[in-house]
Formats: sequence, structure tokens, C-alpha cells
Amino acid sequence: MRVVRDLAALREATAGLRAGGRGLGFVPTMGALHRGHLELVREARRQAGGVAVSIFVNPLQFGPNEDLARYPRDEAGDLEKLRGAGCDLVWLPPVEVMYPPGAATVIEVDGPSKGFEGTARPGHFRGVATVCAKLFHQTGADVAVFGEKDWQQLQVVRRMVADLDLPLRVIGLPTVREEDGLAFSSRNARLAPAQRALAPMLAREMRAAIAAMEAGAEPGTVLAESTGRLRQAGFTPDYLALVEPETLRPWPAGATGQARLLAAAGLGDVRLLDNMPAELP
Ligand code: PAJ
Repeated sequence: MRVVRDLAALREATAGLRAGGRGLGFVPTMGALHRGHLELVREARRQAGGVAVSIFVNPLQFGPNEDLARYPRDEAGDLEKLRGAGCDLVWLPPVEVMYPPGAATVIEVDGPSKGFEGTARPGHFRGVATVCAKLFHQTGADVAVFGEKDWQQLQVVRRMVADLDLPLRVIGLPTVREEDGLAFSSRNARLAPAQRALAPMLAREMRAAIAAMEAGAEPGTVLAESTGRLRQAGFTPDYLALVEPETLRPWPAGATGQARLLAAAGLGDVRLLDNMPAELP
């Protein structure tokens, strides 16, 4: 496994991997890797002949009140895990390589960037889209693998790739969860023990709400009740919303078919995100 930190070395290494003829798979990350990330790497391995992973804590996607400096970093641990997961190349750009002084170009995706995390974190998806476009160009990836865990991000990236005719496939992988149902996240480490014990209630409430809606209960009522129970238990729910899976527009009353339930809820100062599919009858 090769580790590169400048563009010339990256281009040379990716050219070598693509020369195999079975394509280059790519997994963008911000490090602090957990089992969810490693599943994406394994999927990239199945999809392509060579696998590159980037580790870059992207300052452009953090708001002024979000603690970029507090984001967990563990380069040595991450490299060890990537070796075990079948990664060929790690792209670890210093911030001044990614954003040289004077950098002034950003990518703004409308549509699925609106609402939800886009409202809670203004500018967040501009930062995500910009860094992903740069990473796709830098690596020349043929396939990029993202987690469904960040559903809105996945839709924003898909929209950008379609709108800019970027020559790569985007694959979404189902959320990897702890045994108790809590979605793996780098933020989980910041939960105090009592909060960690409470956290799986979010996924449980979502599953129960989906079961009720799939059995024909009215979504507005079901979601209001779930939100109330979460608040009662100590969460600070931000949204629990049924949406059209790709556009993230509100699910039309009475519509049938494949919807997505999106959730964000605070537990102490940790913001938990989750989402699940729902098949409306
Ligand atoms: P990061 O939070 O490190 O996540 C990297 C990838 O791992 C994303 O595609 C995310 O959806 C996926 N992921 C995280 N937890 C997961 C889980 N429990 N199951 C499955 N996949 C999971 O998302 C980012 O970084 C950044 O915004 C990035 C795309 C790298 C741009 O900076």
C-alpha cells in the first residue's frame, strides 16, 4: 500500500493502478476510520482492479461554529486498517495542496443540498461538492463508493456527477451498524456512556415508524409521535422526515412507493444522523 502526499506522486500512482485495465475504485474519507469506512473499501475492491482511499479533513465543509480542530485524527491507526482492507493507495493531501492560497472556485449544487443538513450546516454541501469534484479529478477514479449513512451527501454527489458529466460511477453502500443498531460514525466516540446506551433508540424509533407507515398509518402522525418519544427520552430531534429518495423533496401526502426516512437528533453536543428506506403502501 502506497501513501502519497503530493499531486505528482498521486498521478503517477493512479496511472499505475489504472494500467491494470480493471478500473480505479475510490473511497473519499476524513479519516478516523471505522467498520463503515472499511466496508466501502471492500466494495471498491469488488468493483475495480485498484483501490485508492483519500484521508482529508476538509475545512471547506465545516462551518465557523463547527469544531474543525476537534475532528478526530489517527493517521497511523487509519493506515493500519486500510492495509487490512485491501487498499492500494492512500491520498493524504496537506491542506495547502488541496486549497493553495488564492483558491477561489467552489461547486454549488442546488436541489438535494436544500434543507436538512443543508439548513443545519450552511455551506456544508458546497464544501463537500467542491472537495469531491477535486478528488475525482485528482484521482481519475472510475468508480467512487459512498455510504448511504450520509444519504443527503450521496444525493448531492450523484447530482453533481450527473450535472457536470463527470466520467465516473457513484455507488452507495447500505449503512453499517453496531450490533445494537446504532450507525457507525466517528462522532459516536464523543458520546458519554449513558448517551451511548440511549443512542440506538433513534434507529429503533425509525424502524417502528417505518413499520407503522408501511402498515398504512398516516406519516405525519407517526413521525410526530416518534419525535415526541425521542425528545422525552433526552434527544434534541432536529428532523424526522419522509422524503423522495433522490430529490429530498417532501413525500407527497398519499403517495405510494419507495420513500426515505431522514433523521437528525442531538444527544448532548453530538449530532446523530440516520436514514432508512420505507415502502409506502
Ligand atoms: P466521512 O464522514 O469520513 O465518511 C466517508 C464515507 O464513509 C462517506 O461516504 C460516508 O457516508 C461513509 N460512512 C460513514 N459512516 C458509515 C456507516 N456507518 N456505514 C456506511 N458508510 C459510512 O463523508 C465524508 O467523510 C466527507 O464528507 C467526504 C465525502 C470525505 C468529503 O470530505
